[in-house]
Amino acid sequence: MSDLKREQRKNEHVEIAMAQEDANISDFDGMRFVHHSIPNIDVKDVSLESELKDFTLQQPLYINAMTGGSDWTKQINEKLAKVAKETNMAMAVGSTHAALRNPDMASSFSVVRDVNPEGIIFSNVGADVPVDKAIESVKLLDAQALQVHVNAPQELVMPEGNRIFSTWIDNLSQIVARVDVPVIVKEVGFGMSKETIKQLNEIGIHYVDVSGRGGTNFVHIENARREHKDMDYLSMWGQSTVESLLESTSYQNDMNILASGGVRTPLDAIKCLALGASAVGMSRPFLNQVESNGIDATIEYAEQFTEHMKKIMTMLDAQNIDTLKHSQIIYSNKLLSWIEQRGLDIR
Ligand SMILES: Cc1cc2nc3c(=O)[nH]c(=O)nc-3n(C[C@H](O)[C@H](O)[C@H](O)COP(=O)(O)O)c2cc1C
Repeated sequence: MSDLKREQRKNEHVEIAMAQEDANISDFDGMRFVHHSIPNIDVKDVSLESELKDFTLQQPLYINAMTGGSDWTKQINEKLAKVAKETNMAMAVGSTHAALRNPDMASSFSVVRDVNPEGIIFSNVGADVPVDKAIESVKLLDAQALQVHVNAPQELVMPEGNRIFSTWIDNLSQIVARVDVPVIVKEVGFGMSKETIKQLNEIGIHYVDVSGRGGTNFVHIENARREHKDMDYLSMWGQSTVESLLESTSYQNDMNILASGGVRTPLDAIKCLALGASAVGMSRPFLNQVESNGIDATIEYAEQFTEHMKKIMTMLDAQNIDTLKHSQIIYSNKLLSWIEQRGLDIR
C-alpha cells in the first residue's frame, strides 16, 4: 500500500470515529456499587497513584492510541501531548507503521516526545511488525512502553486489511524477548478472553490492554470504508470492557491489566479499577474534546474527570486504587450469566 493511501486511511479513521456515537446502554450499567452512608475518609485523603510492574503512573487515566502518520494527525498528536503534559497523564500514539516505512512521517509521532520530554509515552505497532521495526518504534519516541495492537476483526472488515494472523503469536514472542521496554498487547475495541490473556502470559507478556467493545467500533469504521457496506452485522462482535476485565481476574496477580473501550464517565473508570485494572485509557473522548473544544478545555475536562474519580472513591471509602479492588459489586443477570457460562472465579 502506498504512503499516500496510508495517510488517507488514518484521516478517514479519525473522521469516521469522530462522528461515531456511543450506545445508550453500556455494560458498565450492569454493575453497581453498594452505597454506605458514612464515609471514613475525606476527598483530600484519596490518592490516584497507580504502581505498575515497571513504572508508576501519577494518575490512572491515560490517552490511548489514535493518531500520527498524516499532517492533520500530527497536529492532533501535538495537542494531545500538551494535554498529557499539563495533566500528568500517560499517552499512547497511534500505530507508528507510517513512520517506520517513511521517515518523513516520523515527526508526526515524535512531536509527542518533543512537547513532553519527561512524560510517560507508549509507542504503538501492529502484531505483524518485524522485531527490528518494533525496536525502532520505541526509539522514535524514547517510549517507556510499546503497545502492540491485535485487531483481527478490524483487519478482516477493512477492505485492504491483513488476512494472515497465524504468525502473530510467534512474532509477539520475539518482540517481547527483544524489546527492552514493557510490551503491552492491546486490543482495539473487541475485548479479550481469559484464553488470550493466558496465551500472552505464557510467552512472557506482563501487560495487556483489554480494550473492549462499547466505545469506538472498528467494525463500523471499516464497514463505512467498504464499497458495499456489507459487514455491519459484525458490529456486536467481541467482549465488552467489563466482560474482558472479568475474564482477566485470574491473571491480575501476574500481569498488569489496563482497561479501555467505551470508558466515558469517571464512574466507568472507577468500575474498571474496582474490577482489577491498573489504569484506564480513553481515546475518542479526548479526540473529540481536543478537536472540538481545544487544548485548555481538554485539560479542564481531564482534571474534572480525575477529581470526580476521587469523589467516587471517597464514597467507596477507598483511599487508593488497591483498596478499590475490595469494593462490593452487584452484577446484572446478564453479566452473572457471562461469569457463570465462562466459569470465571471472580471472588
Ligand atoms: C481515530 C482512532 C484511531 C485509532 N488508532 C489506533 C491505532 O493506531 N492503534 C491502536 O492500538 N488503537 C487505535 N485506536 C483504538 C483505541 O486506542 C481504543 O482501543 C479504542 O478506540 C477504544 O477506546 P474508546 O472507546 O475510548 O475510543 C484508535 C481509535 C480511534 C478513535
